[in-house]
Amino acid sequence: MDFKGKIAVVTGGASGIGKSCCLSLAEKGATVIAVDRNENGAKAVADEIKQKGGNAEGLSLDIVNIAQIKVIVDYIENKYSRIDILINCAGITDVITIEDITETEWDRMLEIDLKGPFFVSQAVINVMKKNNFGKIVNLGSVAGEVGGIVVGANYVAAKAGIIGLTKSLAKSAAKYGINVNTVSPGFIDTEMTKDLNQDVRMVPLGRKGTSEEVSDVILFLCSDYARYLTGVNLDVNGGLHMN
Ligand SMILES: NC(=O)c1ccc[n+]([C@@H]2O[C@H](COP(=O)([O-])OP(=O)(O)OC[C@H]3O[C@@H](n4cnc5c(N)ncnc54)[C@H](O)[C@@H]3O)[C@@H](O)[C@H]2O)c1
Repeated sequence: MDFKGKIAVVTGGASGIGKSCCLSLAEKGATVIAVDRNENGAKAVADEIKQKGGNAEGLSLDIVNIAQIKVIVDYIENKYSRIDILINCAGITDVITIEDITETEWDRMLEIDLKGPFFVSQAVINVMKKNNFGKIVNLGSVAGEVGGIVVGANYVAAKAGIIGLTKSLAKSAAKYGINVNTVSPGFIDTEMTKDLNQDVRMVPLGRKGTSEEVSDVILFLCSDYARYLTGVNLDVNGGLHMN
């Protein structure tokens, strides 16, 4: 896969799957803009890429702040003239019971894991459509497909929403040459899951996945090999859930 000349934006680029997307895209020639509410983390990923000879920039962005999304996307368009790839990796999870989900917990989850990806996509699609080209990958979760395994109803609802959102964006943005797909990971070894009690005996492949095993599939979806895929949800879960 070759991403030379491509401009890629990765939300949640400071950590886990997002970081792995940044490193891998840069290694294959893309200019990577890592955005994250953890500004130092995003800048550290960009520095790592630059040390290896790649092109990257790390920026602060909290995806719940819609005004800030616009400022950052305008900045990227002014500086790089285009955006070819958007990976919506920023997210949080929650281990919480039905009884404990307050309105605040509900809204916080839906804002970060569903509303944020929509408004980032909306802003980026406005740029992509000028070049009649774009690849967007949203992060779902096995939880959104099976009703959760160890996580709360708020996370499950947000991630199930991502699958529908992806299909809607895929249909509406197809006319602009933009493909939009979901990748739904299972148990992946990252910061997010370090304190979760994920029982790998449930996984046919017998282990957790790595960030790289998810980013490899994300890069496939951003590549020309996947040019006729749009609106799909690809499971990356070691067989934990089979459609
Ligand atoms: N790790 C897993 O097992 C797993 C499973 C299913 C789905 N996912 C999904 O994959 C995506 C990446 O998860 P990960 O495991 O790499 O997590 P992670 O915690 O390692 O990374 C998430 C990143 O998102 C950033 N972030 C969180 N809220 C943000 C906000 N409001 N604005 C900007 N940045 C924000 C964090 O700072 C962090 O850098 C998430 O959407 C997650 O729900 C992960």
